[in-house]
Amino acid sequence: MEVITKKRKILIIGVTGYVGRHLVEASLSLGYPTFALVRESTMANHPEKAQFIQGLKDSGVTILFGDLYDYESLVKAIKQVDVVFSLMGHHSAKQLEDQINIVSAIKAAGNIKRFFPSEFGFDVDRLKIMEPAKSALAIKARIRKEIRNAGIPFTFISCNFFATYFLSRLCQVEATGIPEQELFILGDGNTQVIFNSEKDIAMYAIRAVDDPRTLNKILYVRPKANHCSVNELVSLWEKKANKTLKRIFVPEEEVLEKIQSSPEALAFFYAVAHAGFIKGETCNFDVDPSLGVEATDLYADLKYITVEQMLNKYI
Ligand SMILES: NC(=O)c1ccc[n+]([C@@H]2O[C@H](COP(=O)([O-])OP(=O)(O)OC[C@H]3O[C@@H](n4cnc5c(N)ncnc54)[C@H](OP(=O)(O)O)[C@@H]3O)[C@@H](O)[C@H]2O)c1
Repeated sequence: MEVITKKRKILIIGVTGYVGRHLVEASLSLGYPTFALVRESTMANHPEKAQFIQGLKDSGVTILFGDLYDYESLVKAIKQVDVVFSLMGHHSAKQLEDQINIVSAIKAAGNIKRFFPSEFGFDVDRLKIMEPAKSALAIKARIRKEIRNAGIPFTFISCNFFATYFLSRLCQVEATGIPEQELFILGDGNTQVIFNSEKDIAMYAIRAVDDPRTLNKILYVRPKANHCSVNELVSLWEKKANKTLKRIFVPEEEVLEKIQSSPEALAFFYAVAHAGFIKGETCNFDVDPSLGVEATDLYADLKYITVEQMLNKYI
């Protein structure tokens, strides 16, 4: 059993990204000494990010300059902390793959109590998904294997679908907002899917950093109130908005055709949507207690935001 006497120091690699911004906020709000590894080139070339990083510094975050491709900078940063989060994005398979540099640096540094690689989605060890998402997400599974083989203490976060991303468009693949008249539902719309607020995901992840129950485990985020089918979601929205949308159901064969014929980024999204909305890959299994733990069981005191509450933002 780990004995933890003081708050662990947390390093976030990828703090300027989508998930990173939520994580750093959670880490600060829970009072952890927080470190961010940022690229000097990002500071120089992206004024908005530079301003964001300055804001973090003002809030007490220790900013360390470095790069995924500067091994010495990784080792130096990692030696100063206890916990590492990597938040490399899935838009670059290379970025996900090159997390191996972080794995090597953690091994060399030898002091890390917990590593959280870039995950934050499906449980990639058991996932069945179409290309092009299959290859990209298989990289996450390979990184898991490298971490286990290296004997690095880990937690893998499997938090299913990000609510802002999916609810703000009522799960449409080819629309960025709530449709006015009609919407497309992949399959029959009755498959259960799990949505989570990004803020809650970040809070669960930070709560896990010094929790012995999450050591070498997958932390699943599957709040009961957030299991919902697309049909249920649309009905909920219709009731709140006092509107009715025409539902156009897209048969699975047509979705498969879209995956084949769309440009890569869209095909990736269709493959993710196919896995989640038709095949039920976010919740078509029970958690194996030898491999994973459920965040809402461990942290029942955290009042998570429900799908129902989240939809209020889009009325
Ligand atoms: N479940 C879901 O619905 C869902 C949705 C979205 C994402 N995700 C998952 O969440 C994870 C994080 O994705 P994200 O969308 O937050 O990624 P993102 O927004 O693309 O952010 C990537 C971060 O990595 C940093 N980075 C890139 N190259 C780097 C380098 N060479 N050295 C150091 N830092 C570097 C970027 O910093 P710069 O500012 O310097 O470029 C940025 O902070 C991924 O595993 C993704 O699959 C899940």
